[in-house]
Amino acid sequence: MTRLKYMRFYEDRGLEISKAEGQYVWDPEGNLYLDFHTGHGVAFLGHRNPRVVEAIVSQLENVATATPSFKVKIREELLASLENIIPPHLSHVSLLNSGSEAVELALKIARKATGRRKLVGFSGSFHGRTMGALSVTGSPKYRSSFEPLVGDSIILPYNSVEALDKIDSETAGVIVEIVQGEGGVIPAERDFIKALKERVEEKEAILVVDEVQTGFGRTGMIWAFQHYNIEPDILVAGKAVGGGFPASLTALPEDLASKLEPGDHGSTYGGNPLACAAVKASVEVLLGDNVAGKAEFMGKLLHDRLVSKLRGSRLVRGVRGLGLMLGVDLRVAPGGVIKCVQSRRVLTLKAGSTVVRLLPPYLITEGDVEWGVEAIARCVHEELSLKTPT
Ligand SMILES: Cc1ncc(COP(=O)(O)O)c(C=O)c1O
Repeated sequence: MTRLKYMRFYEDRGLEISKAEGQYVWDPEGNLYLDFHTGHGVAFLGHRNPRVVEAIVSQLENVATATPSFKVKIREELLASLENIIPPHLSHVSLLNSGSEAVELALKIARKATGRRKLVGFSGSFHGRTMGALSVTGSPKYRSSFEPLVGDSIILPYNSVEALDKIDSETAGVIVEIVQGEGGVIPAERDFIKALKERVEEKEAILVVDEVQTGFGRTGMIWAFQHYNIEPDILVAGKAVGGGFPASLTALPEDLASKLEPGDHGSTYGGNPLACAAVKASVEVLLGDNVAGKAEFMGKLLHDRLVSKLRGSRLVRGVRGLGLMLGVDLRVAPGGVIKCVQSRRVLTLKAGSTVVRLLPPYLITEGDVEWGVEAIARCVHEELSLKTPT
């Protein structure tokens, strides 16, 4: 035992992972687990995706460290590959290390470009744990110990068209998740997103779409906003974009980029050559292997199998989500089911206060779907025999 204890901040799942490959992980005894957790959605392209590993290793043998002040070939190559997935109206991209950092940049751009202060987020949302991102995060459990947060930040009810009146000519930016992940796998309603886009445009504020969890093919489209026929003013992505390497990005249009100056933002590791190599390879996998199409297909299969297996269970409120971002909403806290499912060698995670969240890699097979669904169905059944639903 070391003297130093790791400040984990997360619940201990009682499992050591000693090997990880594709959609599977192994414990030190060699037991195989099906990974529907993927490190909060990071390993969407599969653990140790060979193209990503190869790109990082070869970059490591070349240039591993260089700040954006210096030109490196891999950064130029990355931009060329990102052009294939970043919407054409977004002309600039900044590379950072985590979702929260990319959100911070988006919020700063909204303030600086509009000269206004007010920032708007939605109830149930999650945008990260830095003070700015927390200020627009809707869940009190993450915020309450740290208030007061960044001034002039307000939270409006998610999916409420009426509440959008609070977006006014003082508003700098509004940030939204198209499918709330942490909040309980809750897709936005079509009318809400349409009205939000219109209201933000009318008030000349900035719409930031946070695709940290939904982006990079997970919902069956490269970006979840594509399901809703809108375009963000600023796009934020993270998690899957680095194929397992820590990387995030903020993409913005020319008119906003032109209002920013050197020194307005920065990050020592942002856009480092290893991250550039990882993101470039990840984009190649995303497009070359039709990741979004496969996520749509397997997501529908997983959704339909869950619905048919769980139909009639008194413990289950419903199954929802988009593509391979799914949630089984229970009438009880999900901890018991998540633990039971883990004992059946399937890793899932919690969302909201009642949801078992599934964030599998796009590589899952029909056999994996059967394994995962069977484990969940059996555990829901076991939980029902232990608890009376409310
Ligand atoms: C939608 C969303 N935004 C932002 C974040 C924060 O990302 P990170 O933990 O990489 O800072 C997360 C993390 O779960 C997220 O789901």
